[in-house]
Amino acid sequence: MARKMLVTGAAGFIGSNFVHYLVAHTDDVVTVLDKFTYAGNEASLAGLPEDRVTVVCGDICDAELVDGLVRDHDIVVHYAAESHNDNSLHDPRPFLDTNIVGTYTLLEAVRRHEKRLHHISTDEVYGDLELDDPNRFTEFTPYNPSSPYSSTKAGSDLLVRAWVRSFGLQATISNCSNNYGPRQHVEKFIPRQITNILVGERPKLYGEGLNVRDWIHADDHSSAVLRIIEAGRMGETYLIGADGEKNNKDVLELILTTMGQPADAYDHVIDRPGHDLRYAIDSTKLREELGWQPSFSDFERGLTATIDWYRQNEAWWQPQKAATEAKYREQGQ
Ligand code: NAD
Ligand code: TYD
Repeated sequence: MARKMLVTGAAGFIGSNFVHYLVAHTDDVVTVLDKFTYAGNEASLAGLPEDRVTVVCGDICDAELVDGLVRDHDIVVHYAAESHNDNSLHDPRPFLDTNIVGTYTLLEAVRRHEKRLHHISTDEVYGDLELDDPNRFTEFTPYNPSSPYSSTKAGSDLLVRAWVRSFGLQATISNCSNNYGPRQHVEKFIPRQITNILVGERPKLYGEGLNVRDWIHADDHSSAVLRIIEAGRMGETYLIGADGEKNNKDVLELILTTMGQPADAYDHVIDRPGHDLRYAIDSTKLREELGWQPSFSDFERGLTATIDWYRQNEAWWQPQKAATEAKYREQGQ
């Protein structure tokens, strides 16, 4: 029988990719609950079948709305969040509201109606690693978040864990590394640089660009989340990663050369305060326990496809571009 999924934040980058993935790979019917903040985009849900996907515009902090929606669905997949570190450094308040109070509001509804929850989180809850640290993050790494974004995500994870332990909530958590792919807001590193080149602006690298991120394609994130929903053990946390460590300078040079530009045609701008040095995920638990494997093993191929998507979908990103760059300019970035 088709499952009824409530997916929060699915007008954003990763949630919309998940809904496209669900429609292609399952018979599930989906309700999207999204506030359509600056990061939500109706166009990200275009082309989905109307008989399988319903979109509700609303806030996850709205207890009455959330209660009715949770009651009418089988599974809640919770992507909604304020998601950008740079924004959190300039205006933390929305991060506390959505990431903490919003998650609390969902948890209470899931508890009342005895539903199943999968909570989406980030590897940034673990803080950062030295460049030469042989260890990577595992499910046992202590939480040590650096920014208002990552600390509010850490807070949301801890709320889920407490609701599992104290109230027997049927929930799982996943912490994933940096995603790339289509439909990512142009404020984020990879789309910002691709679209800068497309509009004739020079890409912007924070500091020396030696910071390492562990890149995973959004479709691989989606397949992992679906696998956890279907086979994950209740109350457990799973780390999602695809062995994609690269420093920002190398990624930027690859974007430039793939787009036919000289590898050094970018500007260094002031660094992000508290900038995490390195993230790296050990996803052994997910792979061995649930048999998950990523399918985008070639970063260069995935990046080239992502560049093509931004080339072909200017109407999707163009409306966000000027305002995003104006904000960065004010910050000296
Ligand atoms: P995004 O900013 O692209 O999308 C967030 C979505 O949530 C938007 O559509 C926005 O309108 C919606 N939203 C915000 N506040 C809301 C509220 N109060 N009520 C309802 N909807 C609201 O973010 P993303 O990059 O797609 O990230 C999605 C989730 O994945 C987040 O929980 C994030 O922490 C997690 N995550 C992201 C990454 C990454 O690389 N981007 C990596 C690991 C985990
Ligand atoms: P970002 O996409 O903001 O993701 P996160 O902060 O969650 O890792 O940034 C990825 C990396 O790229 C991070 O080390 C900061 C860096 N960065 C730049 O060098 N230039 C930019 O213009 C942006 C937005 C980020």
